[in-house]
Amino acid sequence: MTVLGIETSCDESAAAVVENGRDVLSSVVFSQVPLHLPYGGVVPEIASRSHVEKISGVIREALCGAFGAPGATEVSPDWWSRIDAVAVTYGPGLASSLIVGLSAAKGLALRLGRPLIGINHIEAHIHSVFLSPDAPAPREAGPVLALVVSGGHSCWVDMPQPGAYTIIGQTLDDAAGEAFDKAAKLLGLGYPGGPAIDRVARQAARRDAVAFPKGRPKPGNPALGALQAELCVSFSGLKTALMYHLREQPAKDEARVAEVAAAYQEAIVEALAERCERALAGGRYRALAVGGGVSLNRRLRERLAQVTERAGVRLLLAEPRFCGDNAAMIAGLAGAGGGVRGEAAMRLDVSPALEAGGC
Ligand code: KG4
Ligand code: ZN
Repeated sequence: MTVLGIETSCDESAAAVVENGRDVLSSVVFSQVPLHLPYGGVVPEIASRSHVEKISGVIREALCGAFGAPGATEVSPDWWSRIDAVAVTYGPGLASSLIVGLSAAKGLALRLGRPLIGINHIEAHIHSVFLSPDAPAPREAGPVLALVVSGGHSCWVDMPQPGAYTIIGQTLDDAAGEAFDKAAKLLGLGYPGGPAIDRVARQAARRDAVAFPKGRPKPGNPALGALQAELCVSFSGLKTALMYHLREQPAKDEARVAEVAAAYQEAIVEALAERCERALAGGRYRALAVGGGVSLNRRLRERLAQVTERAGVRLLLAEPRFCGDNAAMIAGLAGAGGGVRGEAAMRLDVSPALEAGGC
């Protein structure tokens, strides 16, 4: 089954062609980062307008990459007939961004007479680890504990088998990527902040120059709902602590910026690693799958390698090109049997607050 995937949930316009859920024939991502850079964060109206402008070109490029000779720029009409289904993210994300991809995908599915498959973005981030050539097949990997960490999400998902998802932990406020981005702004390191903090933290002489809060929510916090405090994180206090710290002790030179960044990164990484360790402790899981832009963080990868080794489970990481938002994970999950199918897919509306396993 050859699936064309479309992703426009936030600030990346992406399209990809994937065969049988895991062979990526092409994956094209147009990043809007330069457009949002002057504002230090994603501006929804700029994002949706850029999707409208770019999505058809990105889809064409994905078809050329999948079926054309190297360097092809013209879509041959018969390539469309090789597409068996059109998959698209319908949530979570920015409503005005999601609408662009969903409308494009519905139009294409109608025109091609092919089924539409609606994909949950969080579940697709989990599937991204299975696009690696050395990854096990999803149905042989489980039960899997998944950690999705990006600019918009931080959650732990129990996946006993493909298609079954339960959120067992999450952030009560800021996502991990958001915490990185806000800190980078305060430290004058630019946007997006995660890669910048990752880079400068490596130059730091020490990781314990500042004692930041550990991101542990208080038991009884009403935002926990039915979730256990030990499997949730809270990053908003961390950002405030950094703000007060810099007010009292401004980071005057590069060496100090590096030390503060390293200590801040350590607080986020430790909070994430601690929750993973806790969730793995019961012995229920065979693998930890980690997806989302923050999973590129080198210190996080290092710590999760230690945690999984100690727990005796396999660490499944996405290839760097599939960590951030992309459409290969959308087409991949659809090709592997996931998503909303049939007439229900054609009736889908965007679902900005969708959760893993939600509908
Ligand atoms: O998955 P993604 O591309 O988009 C969302 O769905 O949000 O994630 C983007 C987030 C940004 O907050 C960015 O700062 C963070 O991922 N990020 C990183 C790194 N690379 C990207 N955070 C920490 N370390 C990195 N190396
Ligand atoms: Zn994402």
